[in-house]
Amino acid sequence: MIGVTRRYRFAASHRLHTPKLSEAENRELYGKCNNPYGHGHNYDVEITVEGPVDPTTGRAVDIAQLDRLVKTEVLNAFDHRNLNLDIPQFAEVVPTSENLALLLDRRLRAQWHTVFSGDWPRLEKIRIAETERNIFEVSDDET
Ligand code: NI
Repeated sequence: MIGVTRRYRFAASHRLHTPKLSEAENRELYGKCNNPYGHGHNYDVEITVEGPVDPTTGRAVDIAQLDRLVKTEVLNAFDHRNLNLDIPQFAEVVPTSENLALLLDRRLRAQWHTVFSGDWPRLEKIRIAETERNIFEVSDDET
């Protein structure tokens, strides 16, 4: 089995705030990430797929097909968006990178078989670097 990882990037803004807590508690919890008008990130996304090497093509994944899926489900949907306002799922859920990783995972899995019809490749892992120091992962066995 071979793992193949492809990198993508999109820019988006967000504000960390939960209606379940008071204004003061939100400020305490999220600090400057709770600033009312939000802030932006360049999200570096790594998508790892896994599969056997096809004996004809010598490849484990058709990267162009993966790109097509990521373009529709991730880049077109999230690039240059305000996560709180533009993404319906984040109307109620705080748009942390934990929740963003889970949402990307759900979106890619929901459409996976429209692009990849067979058993392989499988979506193995999504990794989002929100900053140089904050990295979030969701793996196959955790969902
Ligand atoms: Ni942030």
